[in-house]
Amino acid sequence: MSSSSYDFDTRQIHAGTNLDSDHGARLTPMYQSAGFVFDSFADGQGRFDGTIPGAAYARTDNPTNAAVARRLADLEGGAAALLTASGTAAIALTFNALAVSGDHILATDSLYEGSRTLFARSFGRQGVEVELIPADAPDEVWAAAIRPTTKALFTETIPNPKNDVVDLARLARIAHEGGFPLIVDNTVATPYLARPIEHGADLVIHSTSKWLSGHGAVLGGVVIDAGTFDWSAHTDRFPNIASPGPTGVPSFVERFGPLAFLTYLRSVTALDYGPTLPPTSAFMLLQGIETLSLRMDRHVANALALAQWLEHRDEVTAVDYPGLVGNEYYARAQKYLPKGAGAVVTFELAGGLEASKAFIDSLELISKMTHLGDVRTLAIHTGSTIHGHLTEEERLSRGITPGTVRLSVGLESVRDLLRDLERALDAAGAATVPALSDAEREHAAA
Ligand SMILES: Cc1ncc(COP(=O)(O)O)c(C=O)c1O
Repeated sequence: MSSSSYDFDTRQIHAGTNLDSDHGARLTPMYQSAGFVFDSFADGQGRFDGTIPGAAYARTDNPTNAAVARRLADLEGGAAALLTASGTAAIALTFNALAVSGDHILATDSLYEGSRTLFARSFGRQGVEVELIPADAPDEVWAAAIRPTTKALFTETIPNPKNDVVDLARLARIAHEGGFPLIVDNTVATPYLARPIEHGADLVIHSTSKWLSGHGAVLGGVVIDAGTFDWSAHTDRFPNIASPGPTGVPSFVERFGPLAFLTYLRSVTALDYGPTLPPTSAFMLLQGIETLSLRMDRHVANALALAQWLEHRDEVTAVDYPGLVGNEYYARAQKYLPKGAGAVVTFELAGGLEASKAFIDSLELISKMTHLGDVRTLAIHTGSTIHGHLTEEERLSRGITPGTVRLSVGLESVRDLLRDLERALDAAGAATVPALSDAEREHAAA
């Protein structure tokens, strides 16, 4: 279905769908098959060299995955998309397609810790340097960091877990002036709350494991290509995409135009590395996407209610939620996230580590768990888990203190969530009360 004229609520249900011509199944069927039969010798040859459309082998071709990819490309306003086994696979694959040993990538410094680890550890080993810069650093700082080998600028719309919303339009300008694409991880915002392509992003990535699926049942990732970056204007930077192949075969840009990058990603990088999303997961992801806007409205309303309540608690010294009027990123969130500032609420307990232990151990309804975007509300003490491998100094440089707790706010009743938070905060407060000295205890007992 070509659907650009429909509203988001309609497109999340219908976009990209081809009705099943065999049986008329209303849902997009799950094609659980390793391979797909060729009609003839010529058909097999054509499907392999891409001149005849149709699936060949499920490592990169699967009709279920293709339908879900079309829907996500539509929702983000992109030209085409590729599903991957996880959000991490989507990020790793994208940079694999863009950078080789000796290359350089710029990224904003407030990022999901797993992405930072991927960059420092595995990319570092491969000789790809990722340089982290504060998103709001002056233009001169960004300009000075750009090298002839810089292949991309990477950021997150709503960085996990600090919620320090970035200025996407400015980062797009910086990337384009430098001659490379802006890549945006839009996981926490989802295409319902923010569409980075409308602000100049060239590639959009999601961990579909989170709000896009919503049920918390399957992992997944997606890379969406806006189809707008002019690779041929930077042939030296992107020879694998914009220059003819070694045997004189025309470049990906010449053969596939605006789909050049996505076609390279699918037919070379994904084919070579094989991080395929199982069609069962793609099918379940699709069930989640169809209710995205309804869930996000409720996620956002619940998150705002919890953030506003937490702000007034004595046990809490800071709440990072850009939907709060006093938040440093409130104005930017109004611009980029007019429907709401997401559903991650990160806050700091005054009592530090002891208070955090008491808080987490007192939760009953809220799950003690790492993950985001589930229908259930989840809480995690990030300093001892996601950021546990770092030194205290490194944690503090990322804004993670001993009292930092991250909530992924779910869809339960706010009243029930507040009751659970209240019990846990009371416990955190009690754990914070300084222990009585012997003299004070004797005095109290007298
Ligand atoms: C913003 C963001 N991007 C990417 C990822 C990685 O996604 P996955 O767990 O699907 O590999 C995560 C995981 O938490 C995330 O929060």
